[in-house]
Amino acid sequence: MIITELIEKKRDGGEMTAEELDFLVNGLVNKEVEDCQMSAWMMAVCLSGMTDRETSDLTMTMMRSGDTVDLSDLPGIKVDKHSTGGVGDTTTLVVAPLVAACGGTVAKMSGRGLAHSGGTLDKLESVPGVSVEQPLERFKQIVRENGLAVIGQSANLVPADKKMYALRDVTGTVKSIPLIASSIMSKKLAAGADAIVLDVKTGNGAFMNTLEDSRELAAQMVRIGDALGRKTVAIITDMNRPLGMAIGNGLEMKEAIDVLQGRIPMTDPLVSVCLTLGTQMLLLSKLAETREEAEAKLKEALVSGMGFMKLRAMLKALGGDTRFVDEPELLVRTSRIIPVYADKRGYIGAIDAKQLGLAACLLGAGRLKKEDSVDPAVGILMNKRYGDAISESDPYAYLYVNSEDRLEEALELINAAVTVTDERPDELPLVYDIIE
Ligand code: URA
Ligand code: CA
Repeated sequence: MIITELIEKKRDGGEMTAEELDFLVNGLVNKEVEDCQMSAWMMAVCLSGMTDRETSDLTMTMMRSGDTVDLSDLPGIKVDKHSTGGVGDTTTLVVAPLVAACGGTVAKMSGRGLAHSGGTLDKLESVPGVSVEQPLERFKQIVRENGLAVIGQSANLVPADKKMYALRDVTGTVKSIPLIASSIMSKKLAAGADAIVLDVKTGNGAFMNTLEDSRELAAQMVRIGDALGRKTVAIITDMNRPLGMAIGNGLEMKEAIDVLQGRIPMTDPLVSVCLTLGTQMLLLSKLAETREEAEAKLKEALVSGMGFMKLRAMLKALGGDTRFVDEPELLVRTSRIIPVYADKRGYIGAIDAKQLGLAACLLGAGRLKKEDSVDPAVGILMNKRYGDAISESDPYAYLYVNSEDRLEEALELINAAVTVTDERPDELPLVYDIIE
């Protein structure tokens, strides 16, 4: 096969065979296909799309590009959770410990930030000492002892996605239903969980902006999971605003700790979405029979502090310095904290969550280039949320900064991202649909 012909075929809207997809994906891993060629092909996928058949074949060949994990020696139903990517979306750090506290077995492999969206691994690493690279046996041991471990994909888990993900991050090729579905599902299938709960974000801060596209992505992933015998449920949740108040790794870790220590009310959108996700995780784990029972258990795990203890124990097992967990203010120490004000009074009528995510990247919370490092302490802490009344004298956000380099640019983005209206805007739904 000739690589340029495969790129041209997809460019012109053709349908790839399973063999052609194998050739491309294995070629990328074996370095016979160059990064620029894969990037060009992925751009063609973004523009031309893929059929269901192509998407599941791509998922399978990606999954087979490396090792697959066997978790069958761990007790109980192993449940995994994955978000399609959002801003201020700290759900894993809250819901995984809560589910573990309810007796669930959460063995999860997470990713890094992608484009404007945050990644759980970067958030975990905001706690000094944490190592997200753990040998499989150690990973299983932590799960066995704690009911919970979240680590990075082992070096050889879906190596094809590692490369594709890094290329997509910097070539404007993230937004594609087949590329997102195959990226997520190849990893979920390879990581060995029995049941998978997908949080499919929809809105201006998600990779899928319309409810229709998000539904299609959700349905696609549920079909792939079910076809491989993994019970898969997708929940479509709102991303037309940051979910929590914090955008940035240490800030989000601190927010998760604040939730698990009961400092944030249950009605908070972040907590509410966590309860919805956790409910599905408990149902799939057969640890509750009804949604009501599941939610009651999760709330008890939160109020009792058991969830917090699970997060703390996991961070400790990963090598983390627990002083930072017990005093989370230590996570967010920066040289400056800058308040951001609106230029008129009114309401926060709209928020462009993607632009806020990008602004946080400019401050150093995420990567703009593949080799960038992230600063764990920096980011944006919202002081007001969508729909809140604001005035010129009351900051709607605080910037945690360690460098002035791109501060002006970040401020401009933030100002443009937040629209002040005279009228209070309509409430936005938090959960749109659950697809089983
Ligand atoms: N998360 C992933 O793992 N892959 C994507 O493509 C998008 C979000
Ligand atoms: Ca504005």
